Amino acid sequence: MTANRKFWILAPLLLVAAGAAVGAETARYTPSGAFIPPADYREWIFLSSGLNMNYGDEPVATGLGLFDNVFVDPAAWRVFKATGHWPDKTVFVKEGRAAGGKGSINDTGQFQTESRAYLEFHVRDEKRFKGGWGFFESADGKPSRLIPHAAKCYACHEANAAVETTFVQFYPTAKPIALKARSYHER
Ligand code: HEC
Repeated sequence: MTANRKFWILAPLLLVAAGAAVGAETARYTPSGAFIPPADYREWIFLSSGLNMNYGDEPVATGLGLFDNVFVDPAAWRVFKATGHWPDKTVFVKEGRAAGGKGSINDTGQFQTESRAYLEFHVRDEKRFKGGWGFFESADGKPSRLIPHAAKCYACHEANAAVETTFVQFYPTAKPIALKARSYHER
């Protein structure tokens, strides 16, 4: 086998190893185990914006809406692109943003405003969390305690999400990757 061919066979493995190593820096905790929200998630990989999505866990929005923006850390995304699976230490962020209606030159439709309504996290950490994934929320960006496994976050994600408890069915650039890798299981 030529050196060149060897490289191409080993390349995906190297990518996974590198991704896992970089990813280890994204899930960070205080010494007492609180999750430290990433300050720079706005520079991460953008997966989708939902507008007024309602799946029965919150009251239906009235009047102006609520956007939710989903981001994933870049190291995890690199591994996902190569494998269709989320590596250990993957961090997802879901950010709620209040919508605006009339503003500047806009007459109809809705746009996102500076007003952040909530911040939620979904973290893969096989050693730390029951089932391998933990949920957190932090309105003010301060370290937060794990949401207990009995909370409905876990039940809904485990029952309905298409890839490893994440809602890839709603993330248009991730969905084809998971379908191709056969890691996609929509219920
Ligand atoms: C009834 C079902 C349901 C419940 C309960 C629920 N979620 Fe979700 N969650 C969703 C759906 C649907 C999406 C996709 C959102 C989108 O497309 O913008 C999502 C996406 C997310 C994401 C983005 C990453 C991912 O896993 O796809 C995070 C973070 C998240 N939810 C956190 C939470 C937290 C924290 C709770 C509990 C406080 C919670 N969720 C409860 C349905 C649910």
